[in-house]
Amino acid sequence: MTVQIAPSILSADFAALGRAVAAAERGGADLIHVDVMDGHFVPNITIGPPVVQSLKRVAKVPLDVHLMITDPDRYIEAFAHAGAAMISVHVEVLPHLHRTVHAIKALGVRAGVVLNPSTPVVALEQIASDVDFVLVMSVNPGFGGQSFIPQSVPKIRAVRVLLDDAGNHEAPIEVDGGIDVGRAAEVVLAGARILVAGSAIFHAPDPERAARALKEAALAALNDYSPAAPGPAGGERASKRGF
Ligand code: DX5
Ligand code: ZN
Repeated sequence: MTVQIAPSILSADFAALGRAVAAAERGGADLIHVDVMDGHFVPNITIGPPVVQSLKRVAKVPLDVHLMITDPDRYIEAFAHAGAAMISVHVEVLPHLHRTVHAIKALGVRAGVVLNPSTPVVALEQIASDVDFVLVMSVNPGFGGQSFIPQSVPKIRAVRVLLDDAGNHEAPIEVDGGIDVGRAAEVVLAGARILVAGSAIFHAPDPERAARALKEAALAALNDYSPAAPGPAGGERASKRGF
């Protein structure tokens, strides 16, 4: 499994999203991460399906839509029709998570489940074999530019073990919040395979260059991740598990 970067347009200039997407893509973005906030689940308000539809017209890479909203079930279809290739939903708001995950898949969209920093990994246990990916929040959702929470590193490792124990070796772990070039290696070594970054890319003087630097750092870390070099992630065991 390779490593991908997903620049988050939350930190881009909302008056020039097309240009932001193009710069990120030139820098090697594999996905564009779109943060949807409703002012209820998180304190901030951002965008809805019409903006996703416009992004879909200009983006060459798939759109990864992160729903930070209290009632995702009401909006999944709208975001799927707007062009989302991936939709992630928070376990904290969904009493019928199994139904929601399968509703996303039935729309032909990859279904992800998100854990807030204070949500334990065990919350995934019953859904681990159904998900297409897991998103580990490494900040409390709501805003860009926050500091990475270090406890996220062992949490990524624990999610990988849980997914593998469920036989879901294919599902990548995405990490979101406080990711920059300096942080890339440790999250990749822990098992993250999709790195979201907002301010590190769009608050940089040259977003294209910042995206490229993040991708290079992530790929370099992946290169170090082999059975011959069991790093802090316990690479040997992890590699035998097939990621
Ligand atoms: C936070 C969002 C993130 C945000 C990350 O609520 O889910 O995707 O854009 O921003 P940075 O990379 O600046 O922490
Ligand atoms: Zn996000």
